[in-house]
Amino acid sequence: MLFCLLLGVLTTVPCIWAIPLAQDPHSASSRSTETIELNPYANKPRLTFRKDGTFKITVFSDLHYGENPWDDWGPEQDVNSTRLMNTVLTSEKPDYVVLNGDLITGENTFRENSTTLIDEIVSPLNKFKIPFSSTHGNHDNEPNITHAEEIKRELQVAPLSYTRAAPAWADGEGYGPGTYWVPVYTKASDRNPSLILWFFDSRGGFSEGANSTSLPDWVDAAVAEWIELTVAKMNSAWGPADKVGRGSLSFVHIPPHVVQDLQANLNSTQDPGLNADELGEGSTQASGEAANLGKDAPFWDALNAQVLNLHGVISGHDHGNEWCKREPTKNVIFCFDKHAGYGGYSSPGWGHGVRNIVFRSPDPKVGPETWIRMEDGETHARIIMDSSYN
Ligand SMILES: *[C@@H]1O[C@H](CO)[C@@H](O)[C@H](O)[C@H]1NC(C)=O
Ligand SMILES: *[C@@H]1O[C@H](CO)[C@@H](O)[C@H](O)[C@H]1NC(C)=O
Ligand SMILES: *[C@@H]1O[C@H](CO)[C@@H](O)[C@H](O)[C@H]1NC(C)=O
Ligand SMILES: *[C@@H]1O[C@H](CO)[C@@H](O)[C@H](O)[C@H]1NC(C)=O
Ligand SMILES: *[C@@H]1O[C@H](CO)[C@@H](O)[C@H](O)[C@H]1NC(C)=O
Repeated sequence: MLFCLLLGVLTTVPCIWAIPLAQDPHSASSRSTETIELNPYANKPRLTFRKDGTFKITVFSDLHYGENPWDDWGPEQDVNSTRLMNTVLTSEKPDYVVLNGDLITGENTFRENSTTLIDEIVSPLNKFKIPFSSTHGNHDNEPNITHAEEIKRELQVAPLSYTRAAPAWADGEGYGPGTYWVPVYTKASDRNPSLILWFFDSRGGFSEGANSTSLPDWVDAAVAEWIELTVAKMNSAWGPADKVGRGSLSFVHIPPHVVQDLQANLNSTQDPGLNADELGEGSTQASGEAANLGKDAPFWDALNAQVLNLHGVISGHDHGNEWCKREPTKNVIFCFDKHAGYGGYSSPGWGHGVRNIVFRSPDPKVGPETWIRMEDGETHARIIMDSSYN
C-alpha cells in the first residue's frame, strides 16, 4: 500500500490497488480469496441509490410464521403479519427489505409443508417487486426447517431475493449457511459499490434428540477469517473503504454479546425506543453456559477491525427492545429491530412495526437516519447514525 501511494505521488501513474494477499503457508485450510466472488449478482438487477442520493431499507424482524398451525390463532397471526407487511410496504416504498431472522417458528412446523411458509412470507415482496434478503434465527433451525432449507426455498420462489449461501469452502465447517454481503452502487454504471450490506448467521436452535439440528448460538469464529479474506479482496479490487469512501451496514439476528452491557447505561433521550426486554441468558450471542462466554468475540473483533466505515450493526431476537446505543469498546452503533410478526412472544403495549434506515447520501461520512415505524404509521425513536451520536 505504501508502495502504491508513493508510486502514485511520484509518477502520476494511476494507482491500482493490487495488494497481493499474504497466504499463510502453514494454514491447514485451502481458503483463499479466489473463492470469493466480487460480482455475485450477475443475473440480478444492480441495487442502486436513488437519483437524489438516498437509499431506504425497511427491516421486518422476527415474523415467526407458522405458529400453532393446528389452532385458529396461529394462522390468524400470519394473516396479520402479512397485512402488516402489505401496509408498511405500500406506504414506506423501501428500496430494499431485510428479513432479520426468525422468519418461521420452526418447532411448530411440519416436515411436509414448512417451506410453504416461505412462499407466504415473500409474497408481499414479490407483489411489490422489492429486492430483499434474509438473515436466519434460532427458530429457523429445527428438525423440520433449517437455515439452508429456507434459503433454498426463498431463492426458488422470490426472484428479487439477494440472500446467498455461504461459500462452498465453508460448508460443513459450522459457518451457518447465511453469511454473505450485498453491494449497493451509487449509479448502475459505476465500477465499484459505495455501500456493502453484510449479513451474518448467528445459528442457534434448541432441538434435542436424534434429529436435532441445533447449533451454537453465535457467529462462528471461522467467519472472522472469511471477513478478513473478503475485505482484502474488496480492497484490492475497489480500493480500501476509508480511501474510496465505501460504507457498510451489518445485520445479524442474535445481538453480539457486548450488547448486554449496554442496557444498564441507556439514556432514553439519547437512546430512544422501547426497552422492555431485560437481556440475560439467551438474549445475546454466546450468553448461555459460562464456558461459551466470549465465543462470538473473534467475529465481533474481525467485523469491527476489518470493515471500515461501518455505520452500525442491527439485530432482532429480543422482541421487547427497540433502542440503539453506541458500543464503546468498538465505537460502533448497535440498534435493535422492531418486532414485526404477530407470532413470537410479545406483551401488551409492545405492538408491531419495522425499523427504517435511510441513507441520505452514498458518502459514508453522512450517517443514515433510522427510526421505528409502527403498523398504524406512528413513528418514534429517530436517531442519526453518525459520529455525533452519543
Ligand atoms: C390480528 O390483528 C387484529 C387487529 O389488529 C387483532 O385484533 C387480533 O387480535 C390479531 N390476531 C392475532 C391472532 O394476533
Ligand atoms: C416434524 O414433522 C413431522 C411430520 O409432519 C411431525 O410428525 C413432527 O412432529 C414434526 N417435528 C417437530 C419437532 O415439530
Ligand atoms: C401443514 O401440515 C400440517 C400437518 O399435515 C397441517 O395441519 C397444516 O395445516 C399444514 N399447513 C399448511 C400451511 O398447509
Ligand atoms: C427423525 O426423523 C426421521 C425421518 O424424518 C423420522 O422418521 C423419525 O421419527 C425422527 N425421529 C425423532 C426422534 O423425531
Ligand atoms: C441523557 O441525555 C441527555 C441528552 O443528551 C442529557 O442532557 C442528559 O444529561 C443525559 N442523562 C444522563 C443521566 O446522562
